[in-house]
Amino acid sequence: MADEKPKEKTASKEAKGKDEALETIWSRREFFSLAGWAGFLASLGLSALYFARLLFPRVLFEPSPIFKAGIPSDYTVGEVSTKWVTDQRVWIVRDEEGIYVIFALCTHLGCTPRWLRSESKYKCPCHGSGFTKQGINFEGPAPRPLERLKIALAPDGQIIIDKSKKFLFEKGQWGKPGAKLFV
Ligand code: FES
Repeated sequence: MADEKPKEKTASKEAKGKDEALETIWSRREFFSLAGWAGFLASLGLSALYFARLLFPRVLFEPSPIFKAGIPSDYTVGEVSTKWVTDQRVWIVRDEEGIYVIFALCTHLGCTPRWLRSESKYKCPCHGSGFTKQGINFEGPAPRPLERLKIALAPDGQIIIDKSKKFLFEKGQWGKPGAKLFV
């Protein structure tokens, strides 16, 4: 009888040890199972985000190249209007025949020249190119005249300018329809 008690004690210790071992194994299994699910759900979430992103492609909304610039009588014969240089980068010039639009972009390296009324010329501040009132290059490194832009009269009587259509002097385009508005 005296030998039986230690045996019982040993047996219960072994059983307890087994239970603990089983618990450890199960908790490990649970952990790995949960980790697996978490990984799976995370990858599902990422895929959903990726597809949602495809539905909204990155689009650059550029301002329209077409704008209205008031009525012809807003412009004085013989004057260069600087009203639209800041917003639209153009000068509007009116002579005895009509109205034309000059793109305020230096043909050397693309700076914005300034209209110098007292000297009757456009002068580029970057490297000193000069252009006549009509836009012809006559000094400095600019290799060609300034570009003109399409001008027309809208049905409501307003001047409409399309900056996407250019007229180049060196290609003989200043005399083409749209390069000048005869009013
Ligand atoms: S960018 Fe105008 S002169 Fe060079």
